[in-house]
Amino acid sequence: MFALSLLVSAALAPFVLGQNTSQTLAIEAIEANFNNSGIVPSLLATFAPTAVMTLSFQGTDGAVAPGQAFTDNTKVAPTPNLTITGGQYSATDLFTLAMVDAGPVGTDETKGQTRHWLVNGVTVTGDAAPFTVSIENGTAITEYAGPAPPANSGPHRYVIMLYSQPSSFQAPAGLNTANIGVSTYDFPAYVQDSHLGALVAATYFTVEAGTASFTPSATSAVVTSTLPAAASSAGSSATSSSSGSRATGSPTAGQNGSTSLSISLTAVFAAIAAVIVFN
Ligand SMILES: *[C@@H]1O[C@H](CO)[C@@H](O)[C@H](O)[C@H]1NC(C)=O
Ligand SMILES: *[C@@H]1O[C@H](CO)[C@@H](O)[C@H](O)[C@H]1NC(C)=O
Ligand SMILES: *[C@@H]1O[C@H](CO)[C@@H](O)[C@H](O)[C@H]1NC(C)=O
Ligand SMILES: *[C@@H]1O[C@H](CO)[C@@H](O)[C@H](O)[C@H]1NC(C)=O
Ligand SMILES: *[C@@H]1O[C@H](CO)[C@@H](O)[C@H](O)[C@H]1NC(C)=O
Repeated sequence: MFALSLLVSAALAPFVLGQNTSQTLAIEAIEANFNNSGIVPSLLATFAPTAVMTLSFQGTDGAVAPGQAFTDNTKVAPTPNLTITGGQYSATDLFTLAMVDAGPVGTDETKGQTRHWLVNGVTVTGDAAPFTVSIENGTAITEYAGPAPPANSGPHRYVIMLYSQPSSFQAPAGLNTANIGVSTYDFPAYVQDSHLGALVAATYFTVEAGTASFTPSATSAVVTSTLPAAASSAGSSATSSSSGSRATGSPTAGQNGSTSLSISLTAVFAAIAAVIVFN
């Protein structure tokens, strides 16, 4: 009986504490994707987002999964719609949205990144998640420029990031007026020099033109069942999923919040049922 009570407590804990296991799992999954694709630590020294970013392109079937691989760059040519889930935002909170080409896995990031999108003064709107990331009133230093990697140069990683933009933010010289266009810059230096705040949410996809003329570095797949939030969701192993061998693969279970949530709830009900039966 004592053991069963413990089981019930453990299963209920995420809900009692007001945490959301599926949200936690989704955040751990994107963190794992960034680790496994080498974006962390080569582009971002650390990555601890507080929200999950969802990206969708007009004409693409649904949301783009983290690391989703495209070979047809016309699919990612239109400016995407972005939403974030997690956290609460007010109409006066400002953000900076950026997309950079971090090149294929193994790229020397100290040489800079191609700036594909940079908007200051972005807002996050909506009463409930998913919140809309709105560039409507922002200053587009660089308007969205769809990926066009050189042929045979491997799968380039396009990383989209939403940073908190505090009042101390100051756009560096050369990047402080609209429509500067696409060029190479040192993105980590930009973040530091302009005094941007926390990285709220991020995702990435890859685009490859032709066949790589080299063997791109391999990265390990994300197995969501091994993530801490999955392990803590009542010991179920049913959330297992993995992405492709180069982190350019398919969606992870973390993308589908309902999966792990329903498992947690099933475990809770099973545990409660067990208590009732054994009482
Ligand atoms: C948990 O978060 C997900 C989105 O990540 C949301 O769809 C779901 O409704 C939330 N569940 C609870 C119980 O708050
Ligand atoms: C990502 O890598 C960091 C640094 O090695 C590590 O602390 C963290 O646990 C990793 N996160 C995931 C979800 O794999
Ligand atoms: C993007 O947002 C606009 C405006 O809300 C909407 O009309 C359009 O259908 C959205 N496109 C996608 C691909 O979600
Ligand atoms: C943009 O600014 C206008 C005028 O101040 C305001 O009405 C509108 O709500 C703003 N849009 C967003 C997405 O913040
Ligand atoms: C999430 O999983 C549920 C249950 O397996 C499924 O019905 C739903 O279509 C999935 N949603 C997405 C976005 O994959």
